[in-house]
This record gives sequence, C-alpha cells and structure tokens, in this order.
Amino acid sequence: MTVLEVLQATTAYFKKHNIESPRLNAEHLLAHLLRRKRIELYLEFERQLTETELAPLRDLVKRRSEGEPLQHLLGTVEFCGLTFLCDERAMVPRPETEQLVEFLKSEIRNPKSEIVDVGTGSGVIALSLAAKFPEARIVAVDVSDEALSLARENVERLMLGDRVQFLKGHLLENVEEKFDLVVANLPYISAQQRSTLSREVLHDPEIALFAGSRGDELVRKLIDQAPSRLRPGGLLALEIGLDQDQAILSALAEKNYRDICSKNDYNGVIRFLFARYG
Ligand SMILES: C[S@@+](CC[C@H](N)C(=O)[O-])C[C@H]1O[C@@H](n2cnc3c(N)ncnc32)[C@H](O)[C@@H]1O
Repeated sequence: MTVLEVLQATTAYFKKHNIESPRLNAEHLLAHLLRRKRIELYLEFERQLTETELAPLRDLVKRRSEGEPLQHLLGTVEFCGLTFLCDERAMVPRPETEQLVEFLKSEIRNPKSEIVDVGTGSGVIALSLAAKFPEARIVAVDVSDEALSLARENVERLMLGDRVQFLKGHLLENVEEKFDLVVANLPYISAQQRSTLSREVLHDPEIALFAGSRGDELVRKLIDQAPSRLRPGGLLALEIGLDQDQAILSALAEKNYRDICSKNDYNGVIRFLFARYG
C-alpha cells in the first residue's frame, strides 16, 4: 500500500470506531512511525510502504480505535510550543490549560516572580512558565508520585531543572514560602459525571480527574489555604469545571479575595477564575 492508501484506510477505520478527527489521528500515527513531520507525509503520498513499516502501525491503530489516547501512543504532547513526555502516569494536558498559561504569561509583570503550581501532573504549567520566565522561581506540587516522576523527566528533557523544585504533598500543606502566584488545574470532575466521560478521558489517572461528590472540593480547599501562601496582592489562578463558576466565585468573595474575575475558554465556557489577596 502507498502512504496515501494507508492514510485513507486508517481514516475509514477510525471513523467506523467513532474516533474524533480520524484523518488527523491517522496522519499523526503514521508520521510518528515513519519518523517524519506530519506535513512531510504529503510529499510521499505515492511511496509504497514495506511490511516492516506497516506491522507496528496495525497495533497502534487497534489501540487508538479502542480509545487509547493519541498522546499516549505518540508518547509526547505539544503544549505552549514545547514537547512534553506524556503517558498514563499523569493527565493528558488539555488545550484549555494552554489558554490559562497564555493568560498568565501576559498577567505576570515581575520576571522574578515566585510561582507555585498545585497539582502539576506532567508539569506543563510549571515548565511552560519556567521556559517563558527564566528568572522566575517555581515550585511544582503533586500528591501523586507517578505524576511527579513524569514531571521530573520533563524538566530534565527541557533542561529547566535548576529553576523548578518538585514537592510531594496535599495542596499547599508541605509548602512553606510565600508566592506571587498560586496556579492550579486540580481535579474538578464529580463522581456522578463519570458516566459522561469519553473512553480517552478514562485513561487519565483517577486522582487527576475526580475530586469528591461535588467536583469542586479540592479547589475550595485551595481557596482556603492560598491566603497564607500569597504575598500581599498575590494572584490565585484556577482552572475549573463546567458550571462551577458561581459557587467558586462566592467562595472567593467570602474569603475576602479581591479583583475577582473569570475568563471563558475557546468553547465559551467559564473555565478560569482569577483573584488577588491582600
Ligand atoms: C487535572 S490534573 C492537572 C495536571 C496538570 N496541571 C495539567 O494541567 O495538565 C490534576 C493533578 O492534581 C493532582 N492532585 C490531585 N489531588 C491533589 C492534592 N490533594 N494535592 C495536590 N495535587 C493533587 C493529580 O495527581 C493531578 O496530577
């Protein structure tokens, strides 16, 4: 089969198995196996593929059609222009979170800011900010040893090791210093929402997804803890779940945060909350 024929057959197979963006998935997997950029496949459409080239593709296509995330099969994910290792140890980073990081990049005025990323997962928020602000000092916290091991591999790979400190802990409990920015994309899915999640999402670690019967429990605890860890006027930046904005905005007001505001994600959903303290 030629490159084009393989792409067409794989796309049709993915469509049959209800994979979103079937052609894009097919192109990513074939490019990965042939060690090409996706765009380079277009220059090789007529090339015949050998059996040695095709054999490993069959396994990946089967796993993808069964709902294994594309990023796990590729082993990497692009986030804010950087390439991160990605596997089952931590949540697959989402495009919404890139938006949060982009907001923060324009919000951070002091290049020497001290920042803590709570629930760092694969480290995408902490490391993207470390790459953008070379003089910032960043602490990355997670309760999961597995997530921390992946984040540590990412920091080595991106050569940012000297500026990011990793800590195991529940929210800010093991953090002693004060910060200019506390940022968190914590688990925010309620137990009842489990049945609505896609096969791909269910490959994320449970501890990265679920946060109690309401879904906003961890975010609320962080809102309680953060004032004692923020410098005067410091910023709390949160990614939240669908329809959680009103309750969390009230919690911020009750705790005397100021300059409270929300921002929508690309889908028009209120996804990010920002507030200053002191
Ligand atoms: C939704 S994932 C986000 C990961 C990463 N920040 C991102 O945006 O891709 C939430 C992360 O919070 C961590 N986590 C869950 N409970 C926690 C807790 N009580 N304290 C600290 N981290 C926690 C999970 O292990 C997971 O890595």
